[in-house]
Amino acid sequence: MGEDIGNREELLAIVDRVVKIIRVVFIVVLLYPFAFYVASKIDFEKEKIIEKVVEIPIVENGIDVESGLIVDQHYELVKGTCSACHSINLVTQNSATREGWKDLIVWMQKTQKLWDLGDDEVLILDYLEKNYAPKEQGRRAPLKDIEWYEL
Ligand code: HEC
Repeated sequence: MGEDIGNREELLAIVDRVVKIIRVVFIVVLLYPFAFYVASKIDFEKEKIIEKVVEIPIVENGIDVESGLIVDQHYELVKGTCSACHSINLVTQNSATREGWKDLIVWMQKTQKLWDLGDDEVLILDYLEKNYAPKEQGRRAPLKDIEWYEL
C-alpha cells in the first residue's frame, strides 16, 4: 500500500512536469512567431515611411515643391541635370523658345563646362520648350537671338 502511494505521487510528479514542459513549449512556439510578426511589422512600417520620404516628390498645384519646376514629362531629368551647378531657380525664372534654350545650353557648354547632354538634350529641350516658353506677348516681344556674353 505505502509503495502504491509513493508510485502514484511519483507518477503525478512526472505528469506535472510533462504538463509544465508542454506549457512552456506551447507558449514559446506561440510567442516566437508572434514576436517575429510584431518585429517585422514595425520594420515594415519604418521602411514604408522612408520610401514615402524618398520617392514621392511633394507636388503642389503641378509644381515640384523642392525645385519649383513644373511637373511634366522629363522634369526629373531637368531637375537632376540643371541643378548640378547652380540653383534650379535660374531655370524656373527664365523662359525662352526652344532655340533660346538650345543656345543657352551651347553657351554653358562653351563657357561653363556643361557636358555633352547626349540623348537627354532633346528630352530636356522638349520639357523646357513646353513649360518655359516665352510668356504671352506682354509689353515687349520676347528676346530673340540672345547673345551670351563671355564671363
Ligand atoms: C556644368 C555646370 C552647369 C550645368 C550642369 C548647367 N548650368 Fe546653367 N549655368 C552654369 C553657369 C556657371 C551659369 C552662370 C551662373 C550665373 O550666372 O550665376 C549658368 C547659367 C544659367 C542660366 C542663366 C543664364 C543667364 O541669363 O545668366 C540659365 C537659365 C541656365 N544656366 C540654365 C540651365 C539649364 C536649363 C541647365 C540644364 C540643361 C543648366 N543650366 C545646367 C552652369 C551650368
